[in-house]
Amino acid sequence: MVPQLHICNHPLAQHKLTILRNQNTEPKKFREVVRELAAMLIVEATADLPTIDVPITTPIGEAVGKKLADNIGLIPILRAGLGMVEGALEMLPQAEVWHIGLYRDERTLRPVEYYNKLPVHPTVQVCLVLDPMLATGGSATATVDILKRWGAQRIKFVGLIGAPEGVRRLSEAHPDVPIYLAALDERLNDKGYIVPGLGDAGDRQFGTG
Ligand code: PRP
Ligand code: URA
Repeated sequence: MVPQLHICNHPLAQHKLTILRNQNTEPKKFREVVRELAAMLIVEATADLPTIDVPITTPIGEAVGKKLADNIGLIPILRAGLGMVEGALEMLPQAEVWHIGLYRDERTLRPVEYYNKLPVHPTVQVCLVLDPMLATGGSATATVDILKRWGAQRIKFVGLIGAPEGVRRLSEAHPDVPIYLAALDERLNDKGYIVPGLGDAGDRQFGTG
């Protein structure tokens, strides 16, 4: 067990994940449930973020409230990570969104970078990398490499399903990056797909399968 691995066993999360796994779930429903599950996982992934006290006036009197101390960046990995952005923004409407474009070469399974418009210096203190699938871990590891070269200090990975191979690879390369998932599945098949998984997360969201 990886110490930084968090699996959300909440019944609502497991119910939603089952809808995603079902091969008969249509793209419209699939996108809706990815959004909802992403929002739940963001709640878990942000449970230890620092807050600062703020004075606040209620209709009845004075109180001390709290607000997030840090600027948060959402880093969806294109394409499939896009579907998690809306749910994450529902929980963190003030977050910045910085896209990283990577695709997995079908033959080598290695990530190929095709989009990165990060500004010269980091603008956020916490980066939440969003990608539904942690398969070989190549895409997630490459994204964290990019963010660390950028100067990001605190990075978390938020996904839906992971394979043991991907969790191992990401946590060995970046032991400081906690991983939040709704499930840790059995293994990868010979094409690098997670078993039992949910199939191709990009194709299922965007109807391209
Ligand atoms: C999928 C998924 C991850 C990656 C995971 O993207 O969304 O980014 O594969 O695999 P890995 O852990 O072995 O790197 P894909 O390359 O299919 O691109 P897409 O999101 O554009 O469909
Ligand atoms: N990418 C996906 O979309 N699904 C998998 O099972 C593995 C990689």
